[in-house]
Amino acid sequence: MVIPDSCCIVIFGASGDLTYRKLIPAFFNLYLYQQLPSEFSILGVGRSEYSDQSYREKLRLALLEEKVEDPSQLERFLDHVFYQAMDTAGVADYAKLKQRLDELHASLPTALRNTLYYLATPPSLYRVIPANLAAHGLNREDDGWKRLIIEKPYGYDLASSRELDKETHLHFQEQQLYRIDHYLGKETVQNLLVFRFSNGMFEPLWNRNFIDYVEITGAEFLGVEQRGGYYDGAGAVRDMLQNHLLQVLAMVTMEPPATIDADSTRDEVAKVLHSLQPLSDSDLAKHLVLGQYTASSFQGQQLPGYREEPGVADESRTETYVGLKMFVNNWRWSEVPFYVRTGKRLPTRVSEVVIHFKRTPHPVFGQNAPENKLIIRIQPDEGILISFGLKEPGAGFNAKQVSMDFRYGEMEETRMLSAYERLLLDALNGDATLFARSDAVEACWKFVQPILDFKQQEGALYGYACGTWGPKEADELLFNDNRQWRFPCKNLTNTEYCEL
Ligand code: NDP
Ligand code: BG6
Repeated sequence: MVIPDSCCIVIFGASGDLTYRKLIPAFFNLYLYQQLPSEFSILGVGRSEYSDQSYREKLRLALLEEKVEDPSQLERFLDHVFYQAMDTAGVADYAKLKQRLDELHASLPTALRNTLYYLATPPSLYRVIPANLAAHGLNREDDGWKRLIIEKPYGYDLASSRELDKETHLHFQEQQLYRIDHYLGKETVQNLLVFRFSNGMFEPLWNRNFIDYVEITGAEFLGVEQRGGYYDGAGAVRDMLQNHLLQVLAMVTMEPPATIDADSTRDEVAKVLHSLQPLSDSDLAKHLVLGQYTASSFQGQQLPGYREEPGVADESRTETYVGLKMFVNNWRWSEVPFYVRTGKRLPTRVSEVVIHFKRTPHPVFGQNAPENKLIIRIQPDEGILISFGLKEPGAGFNAKQVSMDFRYGEMEETRMLSAYERLLLDALNGDATLFARSDAVEACWKFVQPILDFKQQEGALYGYACGTWGPKEADELLFNDNRQWRFPCKNLTNTEYCEL
C-alpha cells in the first residue's frame, strides 16, 4: 500500500452537498484504514461563516453514519480539519487563503508544500479559481506538488469545455489536472479492464466477429431530488451520457494498453472515443429517444412528475431519459450496435453492461437455442453473470438457458473502496490513470454536441410514467432490430419487468 505524501487538501465548496455527502466521508474512511498520510490537513473553503470548531461540528453529523469502532478516531480525524471563509470569486480573498495555507504547511513535518485543491463549487467558478490561485503563486510546484481536482460538469457543451480547458491550462499543466468522473472510481468499472485483458478466454471473442450487440444501462430510481435547479439546465445527456456512460463504453471497447499507467491507458481511451461514429441528424431522428418522467403511482408511492420537482420550470423540456443507438467506427467494432440508456425514475437503480454474443451458425437444437450473454453488473449487487445453454435433463436434446454468477459481495474480507475514496487516494498519490484527460473529455463533447443541437432544434421529447423503463419509443430502438432491452429486476418487489 502506497501512503501519500504529507499534504494540505483544500476543498472549495466545503459547505456544499458534495463535500458533506461524499468527500468528507471518503477522506474519513481513508483515514480509518490508514491510507492517508500520518500528517495532513483538510482546509474547507466557502462563503458561509464557520469557525474551525463549528465546521467540525457540521462534519461530525455527516460522519455519524460511518461505522467507527473507536469514537476517538472521529475526534482525531476532525482535529485535521480547518475552515476558511472567503469568496473564491474575487481575487482579493486569496491572500487569506495563502496565509492560512502558510500556517497549515508550517505545522506539517515536511518543508514541501504539497497541496491538493478540490473544486466542488458551482461550475461557473471552475474558470475563476485556478486563475486566482495562480495570481497568488499557489499553483507553483517549486516547493511541492500542486494538484487540482475538478468536478463535473466540465463545460456545458463543446465550445465551453474547450474554453474552460484553454483557460485552466494557462495556470495548471495537464499533469496537475484531475478531472473526476466518479464512474471510473467504481471497482466494477475498473474491473472491465482486468476482466478483459487478463482472461485469455474472453479476449479472442471481444470483437465484431463474435459480439452481436452491446447494451449499456445507467438506470436510477431516484428523481432529481433537490438538484432540480442544476439538472433543469443540464439534462440526462450532459449529466450522465457525456461522461459516465461514455467512459464505461470506452472501458468496454478500448484496445489493451501497453501498461497500466496513466499515459498508456488514457491514450487508448482517447483513441476509442475519437472513433465514435459521428451522429448525423438523420441518425438522431432514428436512433435517439429523449424522455421526461411524469407523475405516477409506483408500488404504492405517489411520485411527482419532473415538472413538479423543486427548481424545475413548469414548461421544462429537459430530458430525464436518453436512449441511443450508436457505433464505434474501428476495426474491432465496425457495425456492432451499442444501445445506451440512462434515466431517472426508472423502476430500479442499476448500472450494467450486457454483451450479447452471436448465436451459433446452425440451430442444431431448434430455433429457441439459448443466447450467450455476459452481464457485467456495475451496481448494485456488483458482479458478473454469464448465461449459456445446457442440455435439459431428460429425453431428447432440448437446450435450456442457465447461468453462472459471480458476486463481489461473496468475496470474503474484501474492503471495496467507494468511488470517491479510490479517486481521492489516486490523486493524492499522483496517479491520474482513472481521471479523464483533456483530449478524452473533448472527444465526448464532440460526440454529444450534435445531440444537444438536435434536441434544441427539433428533438421530440416523450413522457414516461415514473417507475417504467422510459418511453415506449426507446423499446422500438431495439424492436426495430428484432432485439429487446434486458430488464434487470434487482431491487424490485414487483417482478413484472423481470428477466431472470
Ligand atoms: P452545492 O450548491 O451544495 O455547494 C456549492 C458550494 O460552493 C457551497 O459550499 C458554496 O458555499 C460554495 N460556493 C458557491 N459560491 C462560492 C463563492 N463565490 N466562493 C466560495 N464558495 C462558494 O453544490 P454541490 O456540493 O452539490 O456540487 C458542487 C459541484 O460538484 C457542482 O459543480 C456539482 O455539479 C458537482 N457535483 C455534485 C454532485 C453531488 O452529488 N452533489 C455529484 C457530481 C458533481 P457557500 O454558499 O458557503 O459559499
Ligand atoms: C452524478 C449525476 O454524476 O451521478 C447524478 O450528476 C446521478 O444525477 C449520479 O444521480 C449517479 O451516480 P451513481 O454513482 O449513483 O450511479
